[in-house]
Amino acid sequence: MTTSETTRVATMDKIAALAKRRGFVFPGSDIYGGLANTWDYGPLGVELKRNVKDVWWRTFVHGRRDIVGIDAGILMHPRVWEASGHVESFNDPLVDCRTCKSRFRADHLIEERLGQHAEGKSPAEMSRIIAEAGLKCTVCGNATLTDARQFNMMFRTVIGPVEETGTEVYLRPETAQAMFVQFKNILATGRVKVPFGIAQIGKAFRNEITPGNFIFRLLEFEQMEIEYFVKPDEAAESFETWVAAMRDWLGSIGVKDEFVRVREHDADELSHYSSRTIDYEYLFPGSMGWRELYGLANRSDYDLRQHQEHSGEDLQYFDQAENRKYLPYVIEPTFGVDRTCLILLLDAYDEEETVDVNGKPDTRVVLRLHPRVAPYKAAVLPLLRKPELAEPAQRLFEALSGVPGALVEYDETGNIGKRYRRQDEIGTPFCFTVDFESLEDQSVTVRHRDDMSQERLAMADVPGWLLERIA
Ligand code: GAP
Repeated sequence: MTTSETTRVATMDKIAALAKRRGFVFPGSDIYGGLANTWDYGPLGVELKRNVKDVWWRTFVHGRRDIVGIDAGILMHPRVWEASGHVESFNDPLVDCRTCKSRFRADHLIEERLGQHAEGKSPAEMSRIIAEAGLKCTVCGNATLTDARQFNMMFRTVIGPVEETGTEVYLRPETAQAMFVQFKNILATGRVKVPFGIAQIGKAFRNEITPGNFIFRLLEFEQMEIEYFVKPDEAAESFETWVAAMRDWLGSIGVKDEFVRVREHDADELSHYSSRTIDYEYLFPGSMGWRELYGLANRSDYDLRQHQEHSGEDLQYFDQAENRKYLPYVIEPTFGVDRTCLILLLDAYDEEETVDVNGKPDTRVVLRLHPRVAPYKAAVLPLLRKPELAEPAQRLFEALSGVPGALVEYDETGNIGKRYRRQDEIGTPFCFTVDFESLEDQSVTVRHRDDMSQERLAMADVPGWLLERIA
């Protein structure tokens, strides 16, 4: 069965419950009652996330000759954020309720209550819309909302033991700026020529106040970003190439096309640095609807020019072929790691009506994750917990653990039907069952997660067979 919007069974609640039950994602600080908008990746979630980042790095850095990577610090000189415009402009418009003191994002309130897109409108404009529509506090119901005010989203901290005399710094709100700040060093050492890109994967921090929809909106999240430097007159063409590359990436990790669309930003919605932006949006279930998944922006020469002015360093590129200096334009594809994990879970989740081992009606929950991103690529299951089966099963497990990129689980507890179900629910594409026949003919049963079909394979062929399917 393929899942389509009409038959889609995934909900955010089901995904969050499965994630906790099976060890993908836990509420942050759970035993202390949690901390809003923070989540921790468990043993399976960390594998899913690593796979996403590894496939991305192989695709965009190792797989191309024109992109190099960096891994910069989270703390940067405070002047970076003055130059980038974040101190001045990285704001959310907030309204407070005078009665119950709840706080909301004005644009989100307007979107939820009136269905109007309000991101990028001025606080005065949003205050007018809220007042004219008579919007009330969604917590206490009183019409006592303040006007919208700007609130800077960067987290601040202090370097030095004494707060009063320390240097105030910010936790980076995007990974992008390090790529501009290190542009000159990379030019000097990287043997790169325009067009070329710098890529980075890492944490970013934003003081978000809107509650999060599971791992959709976090205070602390990971980004995979590329700053792609091009000749100014080639920026528009490069932008189109990146639209296609981002769509190909989604296909390569198994995301269904039907839940993805591209939306062009209106002029009043553009970030302070952007001359053109599109969002890749994903159709989330229920009331969430279409929301931003990734972004693609033409940042022009805004960042290099700003850093050149603020640092006093010449950040121009010398084009040998043209014998001239210029500030390159930047095309920026940006991918959220956590949102990628979330849509992979949503896309993969399916329920099937079936029968259990006793012939009773049952629901099979299955995560149809692409083998590239699935936490476990395979499971080795001795049919029964017997030493004569454990020995060849253990040998097979060891052989499979040597397959590059293959994390394999070994499970001999409980009945085989239940073990298959567990592997279905955590998205393991293949189970290899060692039974008494295996002792005679050195073969195993391969059980396919998606259609539960089974076939026999010579044990010696299994590592090669698996490698072919996960590479
Ligand atoms: N350097 C450009 C930039 O940071 P952005 O649209 O603000 O652009 C890029 O963020 C991506 O980071 C988003 O498309 C989304 O995937 C992810 N992201 C942004 N804020 C997030 C949050 N609070 N929680 C989780 N992911 C977030």
